[in-house]
Amino acid sequence: MNYRHGFHAGNHADCLKHALLTALIRLLQNKPGGLAILDTHAGTGRYRLDGEEAGRTGEWKDGIGRLLDISPEDPALAHWLGLVRNRGPQVYPGSPDIAAGMLRPQDRLVCCELHPEDAATLRRLFRGNPAVAVHERDGYGAIRALWPVRGFTRGLILMDPPFEKSDDFERLAEAVAEARRRLRGACVAIWYPVKHRTPVRSFFDRLRDQGERGLLATELLLRPPTDPSRLNGSGLLLINPPWKFDETARKITDTLARRLGNEESRGSVEWIVPE
Ligand SMILES: C[S@@+](CC[C@H](N)C(=O)[O-])C[C@H]1O[C@@H](n2cnc3c(N)ncnc32)[C@H](O)[C@@H]1O
Repeated sequence: MNYRHGFHAGNHADCLKHALLTALIRLLQNKPGGLAILDTHAGTGRYRLDGEEAGRTGEWKDGIGRLLDISPEDPALAHWLGLVRNRGPQVYPGSPDIAAGMLRPQDRLVCCELHPEDAATLRRLFRGNPAVAVHERDGYGAIRALWPVRGFTRGLILMDPPFEKSDDFERLAEAVAEARRRLRGACVAIWYPVKHRTPVRSFFDRLRDQGERGLLATELLLRPPTDPSRLNGSGLLLINPPWKFDETARKITDTLARRLGNEESRGSVEWIVPE
């Protein structure tokens, strides 16, 4: 396990993922029933932008660094930026911190992180918060062990692996099947890198072949994905997203493409398999 998210915190891919995650949770909370959120690859929860890791790459400067002083009209984007600003200068909230900050009294968050040090950091962040559980364990396996969260019939799973291994797409597809078998109405969000189109298309085909419906791909491409040695962009794939999420996602991806990219950059939202 070499991947440390601290080097990439707040970069363009994090901005896409976290802005969309905030929008997703907002829409799911339109219904009063309790929502359980499972973050299978949680990281440390909070990152110092002036710290050793983020400071070394400076990736955040072309991500959140370009957004902090804007006031977007879109309420979902404004909500996420408000959460980021509330953490204070030079602090960037990761997915568990965002989700925890949005929980209503009836909601719960369960986080899995395999790296022992990162899991310990995350546990410290949520110490004393009874609405959040942190497990040092494999996030894929957690679906069998911890899902659905006991007492909850509404759920969201975020899967955000580091893509260090060649079989991540394979494991994600298996995890989706297991998650949806266990709670049909759950919404699943999967972050994926776009280096080249081919592996992403094969992943979508695999999900389609295993019978998944309601697949919505939301992407921010900085440049056409022709050089597979670079992170040319990224996407968040939604399975069974809430009503009208596509409209919100379109506004978010368009704004991010304009703010974080150049004339080659594109935001896109596409139904891969309709509902
Ligand atoms: C991309 S980072 C997560 C970032 C986080 N979701 C966020 O948005 O703030 C991926 C994390 O997964 C962890 N990880 C790697 N393999 C894992 C596994 N099998 N189960 C759980 N966590 C894993 C890594 O240590 C790393 O912290």
